[in-house]
Parts: sequence; structure tokens; C-alpha cells
Amino acid sequence: MSTPLTTGQLAAHPDLITETFPFRGETITFRLLRRDDEEVLARYFVGLGEATRRRYGPHPFTAEQATKLCAELNYADTLRFLAVSTGSGAPEIVAYFIVYLGPREGEIKRYSERGITLGSDVCTLAPSVADAYQGLGLGSEVMRRVLDVMRRLGFRRMVLSGGTQATNDRAIHFYEKFGFRRVGNFVTPGPLNNHDMILTL
Ligand SMILES: CC(C)(COP(=O)(O)OP(=O)(O)OC[C@H]1O[C@@H](n2cnc3c(N)ncnc32)[C@H](O)[C@@H]1OP(=O)(O)O)[C@@H](O)C(=O)NCCC(=O)NCCS
Repeated sequence: MSTPLTTGQLAAHPDLITETFPFRGETITFRLLRRDDEEVLARYFVGLGEATRRRYGPHPFTAEQATKLCAELNYADTLRFLAVSTGSGAPEIVAYFIVYLGPREGEIKRYSERGITLGSDVCTLAPSVADAYQGLGLGSEVMRRVLDVMRRLGFRRMVLSGGTQATNDRAIHFYEKFGFRRVGNFVTPGPLNNHDMILTL
């Protein structure tokens, strides 16, 4: 059984969860976003392609947003997990998984309409992998580690931030592989059909 963890411990020692692993001939570091990451995070945001941006929209993907997120880091509110490729060149972020430490307004409302109460045992996920690394297994490597941290922090359920688009077959397969189940649909302007999915941790 893994060791329990608190957000206070993480804030004091963010490297508590840092881990490196080999991935397709590269060395990947799994760690939390830090204040000094603004340049590398900006490169990741600006480099995200159109297809990814259509699927993934937690916030703007600009250099200004990267600066803001690094300046306003608050491990008691949101954990931003990175996978960083640390080869011979400059480090590059190859995955960025946001986990909000609690349910968010949109999900609270939609789930309550289905009779599901989201309380403080719930965390909220928004994952992304760099275009060139998608579909290669990197997201799964990161997800295993993220789920371990969230269990150690005592969270019992995980929901998707803004659900997932019903046409996002890869993401849906990815979530189902980790045990998420669909709990309902909702439509956003487009119109786009979306699934809400929840995981018991
Ligand atoms: C969704 C995402 C985070 C998953 O990360 P990833 O590194 O691509 O995922 P992995 O390669 O580890 O796993 C993908 C799984 O889907 C499968 N898959 C790939 N393409 C697929 C497709 N078109 N349809 C169904 N399954 C597919 C893979 O075989 C793999 O499953 P397996 O492990 O059972 O073989 C990533 O693809 C991504 O960032 N996509 C764009 C942004 C996005 O959609 N974010 C989520 C918004 S809800």
C-alpha cells in the first residue's frame, strides 16, 4: 500500500513525487509544475496543434498564460503534473495533466441534475499529451502516476473537467481503460455532444 500524502507536504517538497522513467529511448521526468517552468510551459502551450486544441480547452495556450500559471502556483488548489523529456537537448514538456483538488461548478451542476453529489472527495482531471507523443502510451504512463498521487492524497473519485467530446475515441478508450464510466451526456455550442465520466479511485 502506498504512503499517504498531504497537499502541505507537496507544497513544502514538490519533488516528493518526482520520478524518472524510460520511454521509447528517452528519459522522462514525472513531476509537478514549478515556478521556474514558465519558458518550457510556454513552448508546450504554443506548440499544441489545432486538433489537440479542439479537444482540450482548460485555459488559453499562450506564453502569457504560462507565466500566469507559474506565478500563481497553489498546490492546495490545483496540481499540474508534467512529463518532461530530459535528453541531451533542452528539456521539453511532453505531457501536461491538470488535476483540480475538488469538484468544479460546471460538473457539480451537471452531476447533481443526475442525482450524483460531488463533494470534497472528488478531484477533477484535464489531461494532455504533446501532439508528437499521442497514442504511444505516454499518457498511460503519466496517468498511472497521477492516479497514485491522487489516491495517496485521499481522493476517492475523479471526474473529467468539461467531460470529453463524444467523438474523441482515443480519450474515451483511454479513460475507460483506467476504469472511468460514462454517467451522462451534455451538449455544448457547436453543437457538440460530450460524455461525463467518473472514476472511483
Ligand atoms: C487523450 C490523451 C491524453 C491520451 O494520452 P495518450 O498518450 O495519447 O494515450 P495512450 O497512448 O497512453 O493510450 C491511448 C489508448 O487509446 C487507444 N487509441 C489510440 N487511438 C485510438 C482511437 N482513434 N480510437 C480508440 N482508441 C484509440 C490506444 O491503443 C491506447 O489504448 P491501449 O493502451 O489499450 O492500447 C492524448 O491523446 C491527448 O492529449 N489528446 C488530445 C487532447 C485530449 O483529447 N485531451 C483529453 C480531453 S477530454
